[in-house]
Amino acid sequence: MPTSNLPAEPVLSEELPVAEACLRNRRPILDVLGRYVPEDGFVLEVGSGTGQHGAYMTEHLPGVRWRPTEVRSRLADVRLWHQHTNNPRFLAPLELDVTQDIWPSRDADVVFSANVVHYISWREVECMFRGVQRILKPGGLLILYGPYNYDGQFTSEGNVELDKWLRERNPDSGIKDFEQVMLSARKYDLFLQADEEMPANNRTLVFKKADMV
Ligand SMILES: C[S@@+](CC[C@H](N)C(=O)[O-])C[C@H]1O[C@@H](n2cnc3c(N)ncnc32)[C@H](O)[C@@H]1O
Repeated sequence: MPTSNLPAEPVLSEELPVAEACLRNRRPILDVLGRYVPEDGFVLEVGSGTGQHGAYMTEHLPGVRWRPTEVRSRLADVRLWHQHTNNPRFLAPLELDVTQDIWPSRDADVVFSANVVHYISWREVECMFRGVQRILKPGGLLILYGPYNYDGQFTSEGNVELDKWLRERNPDSGIKDFEQVMLSARKYDLFLQADEEMPANNRTLVFKKADMV
């Protein structure tokens, strides 16, 4: 789906919560999603943060419906972005903690999550894969954006600092090993299709759910 010739950036209201990182990374993420998300696809986002990604992606991917989700304590921000955006394809945010057994949506073509895997524990990552396995359509995609280690090594000084900050906040969080993420996803019938290089030492991992599960 072409994503060039983008219209001018909208002016942001002062009351809207803004994640600066999201402003920097949304265009490269859009370029990747434009290649993987079906034109009329339904995307469920996990850990939407402010909700900016969904607002931006639905503006630039005509036909795509996007359901943002967040843990209860963070839902208010996403609601503000949802109201501000006023795009019927950017659906109302729903509560979702990846550890809950029943997820509030199903039959997604794509599950997208940015900067969540390093923010949560391994137990929560496994819960996320289990939930994604349940609600993704056969042949659907899980798309994860964020930093990963390779061969047990950090890929930049910035990622070393990020990991330190994350573990001080929550010792069970931290940047995960790409190889372990890949093997863990496989247990839930999610098979790596692509590992795309992104700016600022981030990656986009694309997993496909087996067709016949
Ligand atoms: C670093 S922020 C990323 C936010 C947004 N995706 C972005 O890229 O700007 C990580 C997000 O994960 C969410 N999160 C943490 N634990 C979670 C859980 N158990 N289930 C779902 N989301 C969770 C947090 O509320 C937070 O918004």
